[in-house]
Amino acid sequence: MARVVYHLPDGTTKAVEVPAGQSVMDGSVRNNLPGIVAECGGSCSCATCHVYLPDSSSDLFDPPSAEESELVEFLDGSQSNSRLSCQLIVGEQDEVHVEVVDSSV
Ligand code: FES
Repeated sequence: MARVVYHLPDGTTKAVEVPAGQSVMDGSVRNNLPGIVAECGGSCSCATCHVYLPDSSSDLFDPPSAEESELVEFLDGSQSNSRLSCQLIVGEQDEVHVEVVDSSV
């Protein structure tokens, strides 16, 4: 279980308790938060679950797979800290922060 703090595209934040084994994307979709669309349902193929992972949270997750890195590279607004939130699997972190990129536009 981790407290995931979503920094939303409208400038607000929303904190959600996400159970271990679920992804940061799951936590957003299950709580109807805006920005993360997750068209493919988490199979690392749509890239509509784009987030920026701040330095403070980057060590809390495994590095991206080659498949994820390839998808992220070609996204609008791609940065060195871009991740696909369906690939960020929650464990026993205390608190995680992500900046949500609006994938609905
Ligand atoms: S939900 Fe489709 S790539 Fe993450």
